[in-house]
Amino acid sequence: MIGQTDRTDILIVGSGAAGLTLALRAADFSKVTVLSKSDLREGATFYAQGGIAAVLDEKDSLESHIEDTFNAGVGLCNPDVVRHMISRGAEAVEWLLRQGVPFTTKTNEGKNHSINPDSAKLSSLHLTQEGGHSHRRIIHATDATGKAVFETLRERAAEHPNIKLVEECMAVDLITQCDNDGKRKCVGLYVFNHKSRKVDVIQAKFVALATGGASKTYLYTSNPDGASGDGIAMAWRAGCRVANMEFNQFHPTCLYHPHAKSFLISEALRGEGAMLELSDGTRFMSKFDKRGELAPRDIVARAIDHEMKRSGCDCVYLNITHRQPSFITSHFPNIYERCLKFGIDITKDRIPVVPAAHYTCGGVVINERGETDIDNLYAIGETSCSGLHGANRMASNSLLECFLVAFGAASSISEKIRSVCFSTSIPEWDESEVTNSDDEVLVSHNWDEIRRLMWNFVGIVRSSKRLKMADRRIKTLREEIRDYYRKNRVTIDNLELRNIALVAELVIKCALKRQESRGLHYIIDYPKTEEEAKDTVLSPLTSPRN
Ligand code: FAD
Ligand code: SIN
Repeated sequence: MIGQTDRTDILIVGSGAAGLTLALRAADFSKVTVLSKSDLREGATFYAQGGIAAVLDEKDSLESHIEDTFNAGVGLCNPDVVRHMISRGAEAVEWLLRQGVPFTTKTNEGKNHSINPDSAKLSSLHLTQEGGHSHRRIIHATDATGKAVFETLRERAAEHPNIKLVEECMAVDLITQCDNDGKRKCVGLYVFNHKSRKVDVIQAKFVALATGGASKTYLYTSNPDGASGDGIAMAWRAGCRVANMEFNQFHPTCLYHPHAKSFLISEALRGEGAMLELSDGTRFMSKFDKRGELAPRDIVARAIDHEMKRSGCDCVYLNITHRQPSFITSHFPNIYERCLKFGIDITKDRIPVVPAAHYTCGGVVINERGETDIDNLYAIGETSCSGLHGANRMASNSLLECFLVAFGAASSISEKIRSVCFSTSIPEWDESEVTNSDDEVLVSHNWDEIRRLMWNFVGIVRSSKRLKMADRRIKTLREEIRDYYRKNRVTIDNLELRNIALVAELVIKCALKRQESRGLHYIIDYPKTEEEAKDTVLSPLTSPRN
C-alpha cells in the first residue's frame, strides 16, 4: 500500500520489462518502489510473442544486426546508440538466463516446452527469424516470450527485500523543483490510488518512467488497454523534449475477428514460412519488396493497406498450412490455441489478419542511460526515444532496448545516489476547486473520437490535408478535455484521456513537421525520402500551450 506521503529512493512507474529490470538492477544499492496502474502484468511485455533479438549464432555478426537495424530505421537511427545496444545483446540474454527465464533451446525446440534455465548456455538457445533480420537471431520462449520474461522478473522482484511492488496506483504528474542554479530536478510524483480514490504524494530521489507506449491513441491496436502514453505526457508537462512521435508502428498481422480484441499473430510465423495472401489465394508481397513476407514492418503493413483498399476486402490472410501440424502446434502453441477458440484451426485454415497500431518509436528524449532533460528523471523502454529505432523499429529490438537502457539507468543512478537528498517541501495535491463529475459520458465520447480521428486521419498512409484537419480537431478536443480536468475529480479514465489527447497532438505535430516519407511516416504529398535524415524534436519550452 501507498500512504498519503510515502518515500522511496527510486520510484519506477511501470512493471514491464523496463521497469522490472531497473528495479532488479538497482535494488542491490537502494530501496525501490514499482508502480503499476492496474494488475502488474498489464503492459505490452506480458503479451510479447516473437522474442528478443541478439547475435548468438557464429554465422551471424554484430555488423549484420547493426546494418539490419539501420536499414529498417531508414537512416534515422543514432549510430552510436545502435552500436552500443546491439553489441550488448548477449549480455542482456545472459542476465535473463541468470534470472531464470525459460527460453526455448535447440534440443527442446518443437517439443512445446521450455528449458531448465540452470543448464542453459547462450549457444544452446533456439533462434527464430523475423522481418528485416538477415539471420536467425530471435531468442524466444515458444510464442509467449513476454509472459516468460515478465513472470520470471516479477518473481525475482517479489522476493527481493528492497523492492516494493504496488498495483492499482496510477501516476498523475511528476513533481519537479528548481535548484539554486535554476536547474530543474524531479523530486517525486502525484499518484492516484484506485482503492482510496485519493491522490497521494510519493517522494523519491529518482523517478523512472517505464510506462510503455501510446498505441491506444489508435482505434485498432495490438496493445493492452493501458497503452495511453502516460509517461510521454507526464514528461512533456514537466518540461522534457519528445521526439519522432510521427513514427507509430503498425504491426501487419493482427487477428481479424469480431470477438478477438487486440490479438497479435507473431511475425515469427512469417519467419517460419507463413505466406500473405488475398482472399483468392494470390500472394502479393513480392510486388512490394524482394524480401517478400520478411520485409520490415512498415513495408508489409503498407502493402496490406494498399491491397485492402484496392480490392475493397476487409482483411488479408496468413497461410502456414503447408507446414506440418506438429511443427505449427509446437512452435506456436498459444497462437494455435487462441485461434482455435475463434474457430480457426491454423494447421488447416488461413488466418484472417489486418494491420493495427503496435509500437511507439518516438517518445521522451533520452541517452543510452535513460537520462532525460530533467535531473533525477529517467525514461526507459517504449516510453522513451533513445535513437535505436529511427523511423521504424525492427522486430524484437524493443525488449532488447528495455533491458539495456534499464542497465544503463541503474548504473547512472548508482553513481549519483549518494549526492541526492529527499526534497523538504512538496505541495499536497489540491482538490479545492473540483467536484465529482455528473457528465462522465463526455470522457468516453472523447476517447472514442480521438482514437477514430487518429486511425482515419493519421494512419498508415497520410496526407497534409488530413493531418491539418486532425490538428484542428485535436486542438478543440484538448480545450474541452482541459476544461473538464480543471473542474472534476480525477478518475483513471479522465487521466488517460488527458494523456492520450496530448500524445495525439504530439503525433500530429511531428507528422506535420516531417515533409518527406520515411519509414513508418508515409505522406502522399511528399512521397520521396530526403537525403538528410533529421529527428523531429519538440520542446514544451518553445510550444505555445501544453
Ligand atoms: P510495458 O511492458 O508496456 O509496461 C508498462 C507498464 O507501465 C505497465 O505496468 C503499466 O501498468 C504501467 N503504467 C503505464 N502508465 C502508468 C501510470 N500512469 N501509472 C502507473 N503505471 C503505469 N517487442 C519485442 O522486442 N519482441 C516481441 O516479441 C514483441 N512482441 C510484442 C507483442 C505484442 C502483442 C505487443 C503489444 C508488443 C510486442 N513487442 C515486442 C513490443 C514490446 O513488448 C514492448 O515494447 C515492451 O514490452 C515495452 O516494455 P515497457 O517495459 O517499456 O512497457
Ligand atoms: C511479433 O511477435 O510479431 C512481435 C515482435 C515485435 O513487436 O518485436
